[in-house]
Amino acid sequence: MTATVPGTLPVVLIAEELAPSVLGVLGTDVEIRHVDGADRGALLPALADAAAVMIRSATQIDAEALAAAPNLKVVARAGIGLDNVDVAAATERGVMVVNAPTSNIVSAAEHAVALLLAAARHIPAADASLREGAWKRSKFTGVEVTEKTVGVVGLGRIGVLVAQRLAAFGVTLIAYDPYIQPGRAAQLGVRLVPLDELLRESDFITIHLPKTPETVGLIGAAELATTKPGVIIVNAARGGLVDEAALVDALSSGQVRAAGIDVFAKEPCTDSPLFGLRNTVVTPHLGASTTEAQDKAGTAVARSVRLALQGEFVPDA
Ligand code: NAD
Ligand code: MLT
Repeated sequence: MTATVPGTLPVVLIAEELAPSVLGVLGTDVEIRHVDGADRGALLPALADAAAVMIRSATQIDAEALAAAPNLKVVARAGIGLDNVDVAAATERGVMVVNAPTSNIVSAAEHAVALLLAAARHIPAADASLREGAWKRSKFTGVEVTEKTVGVVGLGRIGVLVAQRLAAFGVTLIAYDPYIQPGRAAQLGVRLVPLDELLRESDFITIHLPKTPETVGLIGAAELATTKPGVIIVNAARGGLVDEAALVDALSSGQVRAAGIDVFAKEPCTDSPLFGLRNTVVTPHLGASTTEAQDKAGTAVARSVRLALQGEFVPDA
């Protein structure tokens, strides 16, 4: 048996915490290294030898990072959103970008529904109050979901799963998504409407858009001013789609009754005016953080990395 000469195996740089199953799928024909991808000072030098880099949402693979990675063949995003990867710059350099577009959709949809219900019934605030020894019932009077109108902004994979789940609550479903066929929406029992109509008619608004130049700030102060007074808003897609400062104002005035927020314009986010409000439910980008989703995302992209490094065809994950 011949011993492996150190430094001859392609380096796979794991820049964020991934499911343990990833290592098994990558196999032994690669050298695994770890770095904290959010730490730029550590990431850039670590990329120098990397043939592959595996990330979630906290690592920015931009033109600077790509320039620091002369041997890079593949960027693997263990999840859906590619807004933290400069795909055009990667393509220009001949670097393949792979993701796992269906891996965490159920988890993300379930989290959005959880935020919506938690916001409607003040669950975290009531929980915190009871733990502090206060038995307050009228303070935490909520609203029902049934017979209300839910507006889904972005009726893609996750938006559809959220709509299907909320249908069981007996709601009227409307959606804004100019890129899907009205027939497809109708099949799902969802009426497609323009954004201004969705804002005007919805009792609950749940956002499931990708972060693009077109969608950043899509819901700002002007849009929030046209919502039904007392609307409940959920954003488990990307920070910045709803303008945070405008949302804080609308939550403070009561124009927005409550909000469930999983994602922030700048992450990690440990300090935000949103955290000081009683009518917000906030989580630290947990939409995809389930055992099942992480396992699916990690193994799917690990398989793609292995194929890419072997020079094989990489099918969609
Ligand atoms: P998708 O591509 O299946 O759906 C996105 C939908 O948005 C599409 O139907 C598209 O037509 C629509 N859309 C795009 N631009 C639009 C615009 N300007 N106006 C209205 N609609 C527009 O994506 P998906 O799998 O449903 O995921 C949506 C987003 O959720 C991802 O891009 C990601 O950013 C986010 N996400 C977050 C978490 C989390 O952990 N919180 C987990 C998974 C995904
Ligand atoms: C995604 O786009 O898949 C999500 O942001 C989930 C994640 O990476 O945590």
